This record gives sequence, C-alpha cells and structure tokens, in this order.
Amino acid sequence: MRGAVVCAATALALAACAVHELKDDKPRLSKLPPIVSPADNPTTPEKVALGAKLWIDPRLSGSGKMACTSCHLREKGWTDGLVLSRRDNGDMNTRHTPTMYNVGYLESFYWDGRAPTLEAQVLAAWRVQISADPAKATERIAAVPAYVVEFQKVFGTPPTQDAIVKALAAYLRAKVSGPSPWDRYEMGDANAVSADARAGFEIFMGKGRCSVCHTPPVYTDSKFHNIGLEAGKAKPDPGRGAVTKKPEDMSAFKTPTLRSAAISGPYFHDGSAATLEAAVRYMARGGGADPNKSTLLVDTNLSDREIAQLVAFITALTSDEPYRAPQLP
Ligand code: HEC
Ligand code: HEC
Repeated sequence: MRGAVVCAATALALAACAVHELKDDKPRLSKLPPIVSPADNPTTPEKVALGAKLWIDPRLSGSGKMACTSCHLREKGWTDGLVLSRRDNGDMNTRHTPTMYNVGYLESFYWDGRAPTLEAQVLAAWRVQISADPAKATERIAAVPAYVVEFQKVFGTPPTQDAIVKALAAYLRAKVSGPSPWDRYEMGDANAVSADARAGFEIFMGKGRCSVCHTPPVYTDSKFHNIGLEAGKAKPDPGRGAVTKKPEDMSAFKTPTLRSAAISGPYFHDGSAATLEAAVRYMARGGGADPNKSTLLVDTNLSDREIAQLVAFITALTSDEPYRAPQLP
C-alpha cells in the first residue's frame, strides 16, 4: 500500500492514482487509472507471468521462428522501428506496428478498431502476424512439461487455445507505461523535467490543441480521426471507414497514446514520419490537405521553439520501468 500513501500525500484525486505492480520490480506510481479486466479473464500475477513467456515464445508461430515480440520490442517502445513489417509467412503488413503500452485502456483494437476485445485481437495476431494454426501451435505448447504444470496452476486445465489467448491478453493489460519523468513531476518532484518540457505541456493543453484528442493521462481519446495522410494516395487506406461504412470515418485512424512515443518511431499508421519532431510538426500545422480531414485539426501556427518544447514534453512521457525477458520453459 506504499503507493496509495504517496498518492494521498501528494493530494491528487485517489481515483486517478494507481499502483502498477509487476512481479519483477517495485511498486510504481503514475496518474494512470487501474486497468479493468473482463469478467471471464481476470488478471493475476501468475497469468501475466505465463503470458510474458508466451509473448516471446516462437513455438506459437507457423514457422516456429517468430514471436509476438519480434515486432513489438521493449527498446522501441513495443514497436519495431520499421515503416512496415513482414509477417511470419512473408506477407508485408500494410500498416505500421503500434505500441503495446497502455493497450489495456483502449476500447477497440488495431488502427481501425476492428477488434472489439483484446482477446479477439490476440487471436487474430496469432493467426495473421505470426501466421499460426492455433490448434497446431497449442499442441507444441502442450508438449512442454513445464508449460503443462504452469497452465494447470493458472487455468486449472492443460494448455488450450483459449487459455493461451487469455494469458497473452492478461500480459498485454499489464503493459502499463510508467512512471515517466512527467509522472514524477506531476507527483511533486519539481526537478524531474526541464523548463522546456513544462512549457511544452502548456502548449499541448492550450494553444497547440493537442489534448483535444491526446487526452491525459493516457494521451488518447480512443477515438478515430482523419489527419490527412491518405489524401492523394493511389489506393487510400479506408481505415475506420472500412469497419463502420460511414463516409465521415473514411481514412480515420485511432489516436495513439503518446506515452513513450519518443522511442517508438517512425510515426503514424503508415510510418510516414521518420522523427518525433516531423510528426509533431505535421500535427501542429493541422495535418494534411484532405477534404475529409477532422475539423478538430487546425494550423496552430507554432514557432520552431514551441515545436521543440512540445517534443521535450512528449519525450518526458517516456517510460523507464525495468524489463527482463523471462526464461522460456
Ligand atoms: C510481423 C509483425 C507483428 C508481429 C509478429 C505481431 N504484431 Fe501485433 N501488430 C502488428 C501490426 C502491423 C499491427 C497493426 C495492424 C492494424 O492496425 O491493422 C499490430 C497490432 C497489434 C495490437 C493492437 C494494438 C492497438 O493499438 O490497437 C495488439 C494488441 C497486438 N498487435 C498484439 C500482438 C500479439 C499478441 C502478437 C503475437 C501473437 C503480435 N501482436 C505479433 C505487427 C505485428
Ligand atoms: C483531431 C485529433 C488530434 C489532434 C487535435 C492531435 N492529434 Fe496527434 N494524432 C491523432 C491521430 C488520429 C493520430 C494517428 C493518425 C494516423 O496515423 O493516421 C495522431 C498521431 C500523432 C503522433 C504520432 C504517434 C505515433 O505513435 O505514431 C504524434 C507524435 C502526435 N499525434 C502528436 C500530436 C501533437 C503534438 C498535437 C498538437 C499539436 C496533436 N497530435 C494533435 C489525433 C490528433
């Protein structure tokens, strides 16, 4: 309960405070709210620890060579540093790999929100990204005695397709970012961030209008907006429009969390911005020239110095929690 005490002492609303505890490190504190798990897949530390192994286990893939983490790497903010990635079966993805940080807060998954639950998303990634026949991959996992013992302990069953999906989803729900220097600043450590980062926050919340969509503390509204990236492309990606069939959703994509964005470039659903500065500049000038672009995006006429301050602020949202990959059984 150490975290709760610190939380109360800093006079922040308790509801907005949560202690995020992972097995291998100390209690951590940020303004992120607690993650809510679905009734049929409650998060437990043992389930998260099992999911952490499956996450890095290439036995789950079609070829036996690729794991979930092959495209979602900790050191790249759980992305892969590529514009577009190649799936286990050799096919190219058409959208840039997003971060896994804070997916537990999202209301729908993928850039276009086509997966309604994290469990549905995990099963799709298992089939498509790592190109597996889940039934066959489950047999491979069930042939590992140490896994059989662990699944029995966590689920009361031998490894099943459903249990593998649930363990991976529970693991991803535990991927809450933080604390970041900005969290420490908000919790009362006045020296945790630079003056530029503080000025950047004011612009972000004020004349930059960024918080309209990148709403703190997760820095996303979980909604979809067209920021003008697809205009003029030979085959525009319909984005959210393909899911809802609504014209106003054409080429709209999910607002990404900006926590740890500084280490997760390149940026946007098409990976078209190479640096954080380029992405911030694009947003600050109101996005691209597309008649269907969100009316919430306008040119905010920011100076180079203000752009740099926004970059300093977003950089201060970078998570620095420890990560140790588990031992595979
Ligand atoms: C070959 C690269 C690659 C691998 C391997 C991979 N992913 Fe992904 N992942 C992606 C891409 C690309 C997307 C975005 C696709 C889209 O939005 O259409 C994505 C999206 C996701 C999302 C949605 C995030 C969000 O913001 O909505 C989750 C969750 C996820 N992957 C989990 C997994 C899991 C679990 C595995 C292993 C079973 C996995 N990924 C393996 C590339 C990969
Ligand atoms: C209308 C809502 C909206 C506003 C306002 C907005 N953004 Fe965004 N932002 C988005 C969406 C949606 C995306 C992803 C769009 C895509 O890839 O097609 C995005 C993407 C980004 C990215 C890339 C993140 C990544 O992981 O790829 C950065 C950085 C960013 N925005 C910063 C800002 C800043 C800084 C501001 C203020 C100057 C701002 N945004 C204003 C909705 C918005």
